[in-house]
Amino acid sequence: MKTWVLYYSKSGNTKKIADAIAEELEDVQKSEQIPPAYPPENVALLFLGTAEYAGKPDPKMIEFIRTLNTNRVKNAAVFGTSGAGNAEGKAIGAVKALLKEKGINVVEESFACKGKNFIFFNRNKPDANDLKAAREYARKVYGSIKV
Ligand SMILES: Cc1cc2nc3c(=O)[nH]c(=O)nc-3n(C[C@H](O)[C@H](O)[C@H](O)COP(=O)(O)O)c2cc1C
Repeated sequence: MKTWVLYYSKSGNTKKIADAIAEELEDVQKSEQIPPAYPPENVALLFLGTAEYAGKPDPKMIEFIRTLNTNRVKNAAVFGTSGAGNAEGKAIGAVKALLKEKGINVVEESFACKGKNFIFFNRNKPDANDLKAAREYARKVYGSIKV
């Protein structure tokens, strides 16, 4: 099953989660920052990672989803980091809604954890426990997709 892990990360927190997810799965390309070098093609499962900046995903994430050719992506699962670290956060919610609007099947459960930054601090986050939880999430979602 062809799986892709894409993310947008300014300071590297979301990238850490993306790398952990990509390492955990088979038949997956190395995780890549948005916009990717090549557009997705025949992707059964896209893991899409967003951080939250002033209550929103980065505009590059919004633009990526807007221009996504939905014939080439069947399912998507959304993960992210933020100061608050909640899976129902605004950025994750916005990404899920945009994907659904495009007609992509979105996995209901998302993965989120805290990420360090100068506003919320969250020293050492994401940490080893977060990466372990991200791997478990990846495995669970991967196993739930029927192609
Ligand atoms: C300019 C800026 C705005 C932010 N706004 C929010 C916010 O509205 N809500 C929140 O929970 N975290 C906020 N954060 C924290 C980031 O979401 C968090 O540090 C995240 O892990 C950054 O991910 P990245 O390293 O992948 O870019 C903000 C951080 C920055 C730098």
